[in-house]
Amino acid sequence: MDQSAEARILKEARHVGTLITPIYMDHAATTPCDPRVVEAMLPFFTKTFGNPGSRNHQFGWDAEAGVDRAREQVAALLGADEKEIIFTSGSTEANNLAIKGAATMYEKAPAGGTGRGHMVTCIIEHKAVLDPCKRLQKEGFDVTFLVPGKDGVVTADSVRQALRPDTILVSIMWANNEIGTINEIPQIGALCHERNILFHTDATQWAGKMPVDVERDNIDLLSMSAHKIYGPKGVGALYVRRRRPRVRLTALVDGGGQERGFRSGTLNVTGIVGLGKACEIAAAEMDRDATRLLALRTRLEQGVSSRLDSCQVNGHPTRRLPHLTNISFGFVEGEGLMMAVKEIACSSGSACTSASLEPSYVLKALDVSDELAHSSLRLSLGKWSTQEQVDFAVERIVGAVKKLREMSPLYDMHKEGIDLSKVEWGNH
Ligand SMILES: Cc1ncc(COP(=O)(O)O)c(C=O)c1O
Repeated sequence: MDQSAEARILKEARHVGTLITPIYMDHAATTPCDPRVVEAMLPFFTKTFGNPGSRNHQFGWDAEAGVDRAREQVAALLGADEKEIIFTSGSTEANNLAIKGAATMYEKAPAGGTGRGHMVTCIIEHKAVLDPCKRLQKEGFDVTFLVPGKDGVVTADSVRQALRPDTILVSIMWANNEIGTINEIPQIGALCHERNILFHTDATQWAGKMPVDVERDNIDLLSMSAHKIYGPKGVGALYVRRRRPRVRLTALVDGGGQERGFRSGTLNVTGIVGLGKACEIAAAEMDRDATRLLALRTRLEQGVSSRLDSCQVNGHPTRRLPHLTNISFGFVEGEGLMMAVKEIACSSGSACTSASLEPSYVLKALDVSDELAHSSLRLSLGKWSTQEQVDFAVERIVGAVKKLREMSPLYDMHKEGIDLSKVEWGNH
């Protein structure tokens, strides 16, 4: 695609790389599709529309060739073999297949015990890992939910202490989706391999942004998703190691036996082609993007913290994804803050449950108070984020926080030097 066509298509996505509001700073939630990805996908809707399962005519072969190429592109990004890539509908399904599939395939009751085996994960994983683990717990497996350090990092040491003779699988995310902290993945993988325990990592926020080598990093199962890396929604992949050890999984979906029986169902050819192209682009551009985004994020954090007191960046100061920051602002009310920064499309530290706004369980695990969690913003930058957008966001955030604090009697007391934690609030 020539540069002008790319620029035109990007401009059509009005909020990408421009100052048209709201400006998009929620790339950890999803990313716009790269025009080069769209271009690669288009022929597979109308021209190369065959079913890759049709083994006896050209339409099927052409579609299969598209899928094969995508499998190579995904495998290349991960340092894997093509046969180790299973296409799924995204990371949620990949996580479910890895966790439930491994647990039921390898279940082992300890001598004299009644359990079906043991799993290790962490309390700040995405729900797409936590909920499959909780379901397994209900079905008779033991699960250890590790608590990360106050910096949000899960260490190999904490995993080591949780391992048991009947541990089947350890599932620890590579980088956290709310705070961007990076766990000790290669070390945890090495530990699991020493003990003959399977190691799964939810790499949804990492793969395609930062380097992966499943051999070097000692990974047996890895989940990734296209829509976090400028590919389409509803498609992803699970890497399943085939050698040393050969990992087997119980399928979640039975049927036509596609994907070597791991995942039946006609393949989402267009989506898979898009995922493949997104991986190819990511492999070529991730270093450059990461360097640029780290500079922009630093500008954002410094812009805010140099002009506002009583704000904190959550998570480890340096072991963090380069494009993501999660900042809590003291003495402002959360909903008011979100309303006041409507021109910036970002996430808050509140999660909507059916009835109410709950403080984020990730921030709570880091001992961030409920009030501070509610008044937190997750800002995540992307490939087309600009310095102009960052400066705009800093202006809006600083302005909003200052304005909200003008209305806060607590902030006045804090400025007068009163230690609010020691104040005894009367019940009048
Ligand atoms: C860490 C993590 N895991 C899993 C998911 C779910 O991915 P998908 O939308 O592909 O199902 C997400 C997406 O928000 C995520 O951030």
